[in-house]
Amino acid sequence: MILPILKFPDKRLRTKAVAVETVDSAVKKLVKNMFETMYAQKGIGLAATQVDKHLQIVVMDVPDSGADYRLLKDQIRKNKKPPEEKHPLCFINPKIIKKSGSEVHAEGCLSVPDYYADVERFNHITVTALDKNGKKFTLEARNLLAICIQHELDHLMGILFVDYLSKLKQQRLRDKLKKTK
Ligand code: NI
Repeated sequence: MILPILKFPDKRLRTKAVAVETVDSAVKKLVKNMFETMYAQKGIGLAATQVDKHLQIVVMDVPDSGADYRLLKDQIRKNKKPPEEKHPLCFINPKIIKKSGSEVHAEGCLSVPDYYADVERFNHITVTALDKNGKKFTLEARNLLAICIQHELDHLMGILFVDYLSKLKQQRLRDKLKKTK
């Protein structure tokens, strides 16, 4: 089932997600629907917050490391199919336990359509979480995958990538959104 995605500046995107207590059938169903929604919208990550479910759940499918993010952006813009091979990742109750390095990347978000901006993030992180079956795992991530994880975990805390932009850029974005309405 494809779920509706909340769009910036919807206040519900500011809700802090709560931890999942048990990975039961309702959680598994939500994870399945989140993957369907993410793939249908040609996104590389989706947080439960974005579908108005305020649980600490994130799904992701980041193309192989080394993928050119600009190429990916063009594919999203032209509405082309994302790369065929799927690498689904599900993080329940994720926590970043190690972070280092930095990298500036153009980011986009399904909740802020047709908008991209550079954000500085750590480029090497270690994260622990439960998988879609409730099994604990630890993942070391670099580059685009590391950036995507930080972007999605921010959603769970009610933070959007546009919050990192200058006040001027944020105002320009708001003006642009008003015009398109
Ligand atoms: Ni996002």
